[in-house]
Formats: sequence, C-alpha cells, structure tokens
Amino acid sequence: MNEKIDTSMPDERSFAPPADFAANAIAQAEIYDRAQSEGVEFWANQARELLHWHTPFTETLDWSDAPVAKWFADGALNVSYNCLDRHVEQGRGERVALHWEGEPGDSVSLTYAALTEQVKRAANVLLSLGIRAGDRVALYMPLIPEAVVAMLAVARIGAIHSVVFGGFSAESLRNRADDAGAKLVITADGGYRKGGVFALKPVVDQALASDGGQKTVQNVLVVRRGGNDIEWIDNRDLWWHEVMESASPEHEAQPFPAEQPLFILYTSGTTGKPKGILHTSGGYLTQAAFTHKNIFDLHAESDIYWCTADVGWITGHSYVVYGPLANGATQVIYEGTPDTPHPGRWWEIIQKYGVTIFYTAPTAIRSFMKLGSEIPDAFDLSTLRLLGSVGEPINPEAWMWYRDVIGAGKTPIVDTWWQTETGAIMISALPGVTSLKPGSAQVAVPGISIDILDDDGAGVPDGTGGLLVITEPWPSMLRGIWGDDERFRKTYWQKFGDKYFAGDGAKRDRDGDIWLLGRVDDVMNISGHRLSTAEIESSLVAHPMVAEAAVVGAADELTGQAVVAFVILLASEVGKLEAAEASAELRTHVAQQIGAIARPARIFIVPELPKTRSGKIMRRLLQDVAEGREIGDTTTLTDQSVLNIINAQVN
Ligand code: WT7
Repeated sequence: MNEKIDTSMPDERSFAPPADFAANAIAQAEIYDRAQSEGVEFWANQARELLHWHTPFTETLDWSDAPVAKWFADGALNVSYNCLDRHVEQGRGERVALHWEGEPGDSVSLTYAALTEQVKRAANVLLSLGIRAGDRVALYMPLIPEAVVAMLAVARIGAIHSVVFGGFSAESLRNRADDAGAKLVITADGGYRKGGVFALKPVVDQALASDGGQKTVQNVLVVRRGGNDIEWIDNRDLWWHEVMESASPEHEAQPFPAEQPLFILYTSGTTGKPKGILHTSGGYLTQAAFTHKNIFDLHAESDIYWCTADVGWITGHSYVVYGPLANGATQVIYEGTPDTPHPGRWWEIIQKYGVTIFYTAPTAIRSFMKLGSEIPDAFDLSTLRLLGSVGEPINPEAWMWYRDVIGAGKTPIVDTWWQTETGAIMISALPGVTSLKPGSAQVAVPGISIDILDDDGAGVPDGTGGLLVITEPWPSMLRGIWGDDERFRKTYWQKFGDKYFAGDGAKRDRDGDIWLLGRVDDVMNISGHRLSTAEIESSLVAHPMVAEAAVVGAADELTGQAVVAFVILLASEVGKLEAAEASAELRTHVAQQIGAIARPARIFIVPELPKTRSGKIMRRLLQDVAEGREIGDTTTLTDQSVLNIINAQVN
C-alpha cells in the first residue's frame, strides 16, 4: 500500500451527540480513561458486572499459550442461564425477549419466561437424543424463534452449535457438518423468503445423502414452518413440535468452564476451504454484552432493538442472540426479505413495534436509497434514537441518507468494525461521547488496542494506508480454527508475531480516527458477506466445461463489491455454447455448488488469463479490467497481449 500521505478527512463533516442523548448515555467519556488505567482488569470488571458466574473467576487473562487466549479460565458459568433464567429470577419474566415477525405477516411475541421454558424443553430434547457437552450440532434454519431456542439449548448443555446460513447449498452444508463432525442437524421444512417458501429439509437430505452418506449425523430435528412437502427418514428424522411437546419444561442449567467452546461459525478465507472459527463462553459473552450495551446505548427497560442480521452470520450470533439476551433486551427479529410484500416492509416493522435502535448493513441502506425516500417517509420512524451499520465500509452519501431519512436528521450512527474472528465489535464510536464522521468507523472500543502497520510491522504515519492489527488479546477473540491449528497460526499470527492481523487495510486521519480501506487479501465482501475468490474459482473449475478461472471482487455501487469471474473454457468446449449461455450456466453452477450469495454478477469467457512469470494470476489487473479502469503496472506480466484480448472481450 503505497499511498500518498493525506491526513485530511475524506469527509469533513462531524456531528456531536445530541445533548439529551449524551446526558442519558450508558457510556460516558470517562470510560476510555478507566479502560486505559485498568488494563485487563477492565474486562474482569465487565465480566463480573454483566454476567452471572456460578463460580467466580480469579484469573483474568492467561496469554501464556499465545495465540490461544484463556479469559476468566477458572470461572464457570452457563451462557443460556445468563441469557434467560436470571432475567426471570430477577423478576423480568414478563418482559418481551423476542417480537418475531414472519414474512407472510404472522407474528409471535415471546417473553423471557416463555423463551426460557422453550429452551429448557429443547435442552431436554437434545439430551434425550444423546447430545452431550462438547458435541457439535449443526443448525440450518430460517429466522424463526426456534433458531434462537435451538442455539440457546445447545449452549445450555455445553454442546457446540454450528449455524449454517440457510442460503448455502447442500454441498456447503455437508462440508461444514463433516468438518465439525456434527451429530445432529436442526432444520425446518422450509422458510419464507421473497413471498414464497424456500425448502430447507430437502437440502439437508441431499447434504446427508451425497457421496454414500454423511458420516456423523444421527438425527435431524425438523421445525414445521413452510408447510412444504418433504421426505422423511423414519429412524433419523423427528418433528420439533412433537418432541418439544413431550419434553419436560424443567431443566436446571449447569455451570461450564469459561473456556467451554460455545460455537463454531464457518467463514471464507483465502483458500477454497472455509474456516471453522471457534468461540468460547465467558470472554465471548462478556464482550458481546459489553459492546451491545455501551455501543447501542441499550436501556433494556425501554428500548426496542432490531438487528436485521440472520443468525447464520456472526452478527446474528453476537447482536441478535447473545449480546441482547444477556442484557435482557427486547428485540425484533424478522424472517423475510426487506421488500416483501412491499418495499416499505422494514419501515412498517419499525413503526409497528416502535423500534428505538436499528442495526443493519450499508448494502441495505444503499438499496433503499435507490428506491427513494418516499418509501420510508410514509411510515412513522420517530421512535428511532440510534442507528448502526456493519459489514462493510459505509460511504458518506449512504451515511448521510441513513441519518437524514431514517434518523430524522438527528440520530447518532455507529459504524461498527469487527469480524467473525473478533466475535464482537472492535472499532466504533460511542454514541453519547464521540463526534461522528460519516464514513469513518472512528476509534477502538474501550479495552481494545488497535494499530495500523506497514508490511514490516512498523507503525504508519497518520494519513498513510497500512494493515489493521489488534495488538492485545481481547475477551471475544477466536480461540482457533476448528481442527486446523496450523492454519489459525498462519492466517492471523504469522505476519506480525503476537499481533493479530485482521486482513483489512486502514488509515488514520489527523484526529486519529480510523477509516477502513477494504480487504488486502483474496477475500471479497459482497453486501457485507464474506466470500473467498479461491472458493468460487474452485467451484468454477469443477464444472466440466472449464479449464481455468480467476475471480475478483469488483467495486459495485450497491453491494460494495460484486463477484466477477474470468473463465477459460476447455479447448474441446470452445464454440459449443454462445458466451452468454456459457456464462449463464456457470453462474447457476456456482449458486448450486456454494449458494446463491456466491453467484457471480458477471462471467467473462476469455482465451487467456494474465499471469506473472511464476504463474500467479494477476488479480489486480483483472480487477482493473472489471472496474473499467486504466490498466495498472504490467511489468511482471508474461504476455502483454493477454490483457488487450481480455479487454476486447469485456468492453
Ligand atoms: C470483514 C469481516 C462483522 C460482522 C459482519 C461481517 C468488513 C465489517 C466493517 C465496517 C468496514 C467492515 C471487514 C472485515 N467489515 N464491518 N464497519 N467497515 N469494513 O463479518 O464476514 O467476518 O467479515 O467485513 O473487511 O474484515 P465477516
């Protein structure tokens, strides 16, 4: 990253917190000094204050086995108890935990008491199926209350959940269930999306049947949601409603060590194989609860909080399930797509429930922006007092629209930077403290240490782009990659020794505020979802028509980046199909293999790919081509004419 030094702020606007917001805010300015002076004890204090410990811890951080951290290691707690029972025991049983809205318009509100009972029953169901502490359970579900119940039930008995987003293919599900050695899959017949039912159980059947049978899964628990026809395997499949009804509603939560694994969540890396990111209990829950309370300024007794993420992503884990429920929040969850049955659906939901805190992704904001402000203007959004953004950099135009149109020109916006690996928010403003700058994620969360380094590990001056690192261990950090310790060390720790390398570029402006510059590795960010170039390339190459493929993330106005593929066909296939037909077939193929989110926006059939002398595909050049830019430095390219040929095909 050789960028000219520029300490000006890309956007000079700045918005101080509204006075009444600042006065009532949970986090006040002193918290930064407190975190600074207390060091790791700051987190111990948060852990004691925010959570119930069956056995209090005496050790805060053990970093002797770096890069595998232990936080609060001699303490014991139950994550599910912290999210449920204690609220009921403390007299908050009648508070609504979940206002669930189904896409067709059906809805259910579950109190903390009701949710606790469901989770107790589900815990008994899991035990009766032979699931024990440490076992892995895969979830493949729509966003329905049962998904939350299932996660908390797995956590309650000390087992490990691995949620696979319902948009992933059978093959993706199978690879993840295999890698984790899941004993049980919890799914639904189907869920609602875009006005219809999308089938889930048939995908599970396919995943478990392929290649002569998946090895570890013994049972499939099926929630009835879509009402679609499904096949049934008698000794394997069970209806959720049947086993839940006969299960006992009594279950006493047992304590587990703070480092008990809580979940595995697969995310794309720079190779074709997704990484199973492992998170544990005490530290994870501490930071999820702390950030949720302080960054979203949660006043649990009065706020109605809505995070639009699916539980298939880390945002759904930390800011739909664990953070909000640990804090006793009342929240909205919505099953469907934002534009079904009409483009004002989200705003209608905000109006219906009186949502006060709203957390979503820039791609969604940009797509609403495109539709025009008449749509949200038709709804009463006056209850909103805080907005959040996550998943990708938010461009200042979208930030201003979000504030002006959704936030009535006055709500603070917190742009939160974090990753599946970090488990919880790491960089963000504090809404009652920080003067906000549209487009900047701004500052490290209290208790978190961030730096920006050059390739050799030296700090870069303000205004210069560099590599984002986290310099001290943090409570919700990943504890490893499931089954691949070497990959864990290599991916995150090899470059800078004891500093965690995030894979993102960033720079600081003259105020010290951080601006994210996107990934510096072969990872793409499509609508805030992470995809690997290598994974899509290997999917393309697996098609019988393809000889070679190169994938890049090209800048896209709506989705941040879009998947663009360059494909060389086998000589025997050339000319058999029109280029348009071939690319249509390949787009469908990728969607079937990985999932619809990975479907390339564009595929170019090309005769050659630009390579270095050592045979590496020059993705940067392809990115220039895909983005319609003047082609950059090609001095290491073996054959200059390749680019001319590709350019001729593309333009
Ligand atoms: C990558 C992590 C964290 C939950 C959703 C994505 C990008 C995330 C921001 C932000 C700029 C962001 C980074 C990061 N990212 N939030 N506020 N500003 N970029 O989780 O799939 O693990 O992806 O998303 O590139 O590395 P993920």
